[in-house]
Amino acid sequence: NLKELVNIDKYSCEIDGVCMPKKYLKMQDDVANWKVNENDVWVVSFPKTGTTWTQEMVWLLLNDLDYQKAQLNLIKRSPQLEATALLRSHLVKVFLPIIPQPIKKSLKYVKKMSSPACIKTHLPWNLLPMEIQKDIKKPKIIYISRNPKDTCISYYHFSRLIKEFDGTLEEFCEKFLAGKVNFAPFWNHVLPFWERRHDPNILFLKYEDMKRDLPSSIRKVAEFLDKNISDEHLATLADHLSFENMKNNPAVNYDWLVKMSNMAKRDGGMAPFMRQGKVGGYKEVLTKEMIEKFEIWTKEHTIETGLNY
Ligand code: A3P
Repeated sequence: NLKELVNIDKYSCEIDGVCMPKKYLKMQDDVANWKVNENDVWVVSFPKTGTTWTQEMVWLLLNDLDYQKAQLNLIKRSPQLEATALLRSHLVKVFLPIIPQPIKKSLKYVKKMSSPACIKTHLPWNLLPMEIQKDIKKPKIIYISRNPKDTCISYYHFSRLIKEFDGTLEEFCEKFLAGKVNFAPFWNHVLPFWERRHDPNILFLKYEDMKRDLPSSIRKVAEFLDKNISDEHLATLADHLSFENMKNNPAVNYDWLVKMSNMAKRDGGMAPFMRQGKVGGYKEVLTKEMIEKFEIWTKEHTIETGLNY
């Protein structure tokens, strides 16, 4: 199962064309050979596209809208398969005792989840377990995507927050466009799921649609999961999932990560995880030239695919 490997820098390498943390090499075989449970539901995405938002929705729909249980941190309810590989040593060294188990030993934790588990991953199609790639097992997969300019800006702030990047936004955009950020290239991530969007076990969502009409997105996801939801419950869920409510909800707002990472470098003042939650925020911060670069790159990759944001 070993995929072709290329060195990028001290922390990253390219595995089968995907920019991955080197620590992922230790788990790639386990992931590739994973015995997939078809009852589990996977929330798959490129980072910063609305994954947390989607996970909270999916978990609640799968768990009969149990808001009581939803007070448990989302990282425990919907763990990220490859989370351990993303832990950088500067955080591990200082905080090992308080790093939550689903992150410290993510594979082990996910394996112990009872089914139907709600599994999060940022792995692209070509790094998913072989049983999925080869269509041997077909668990439900909900793929969330977002326009690349807003995604990139959100990723820039997040990378600064977790102290993995301290350059300018412009420099980060260049890295993003060159596919040198974790889980990139962006289009290699999005397009394989877009192409499979009509497969019965795949649901392709867009952040922009969720922002425009959250109740419709909830209904779509509920139908996909074979869950009935009354109008009243749907309204309550939409309210629970509003940006303001998620920003104030300690079970999903990653405030613990913000605190931990500010303590590690003692500099504070970074944007929170729940930062802006809006569409088109890029217009306020990207130069005309950078927007043009993104647009040319987008056109090159999406021409004749029918995908737009
Ligand atoms: P911004 O940084 O643009 O604000 P992910 O969960 O994939 O890491 O994505 C994080 C992005 O989703 C952040 O974007 C965050 O604010 C946004 N987000 C999270 N919950 C949201 C919600 N309820 N409504 C709108 N955006 C949300």
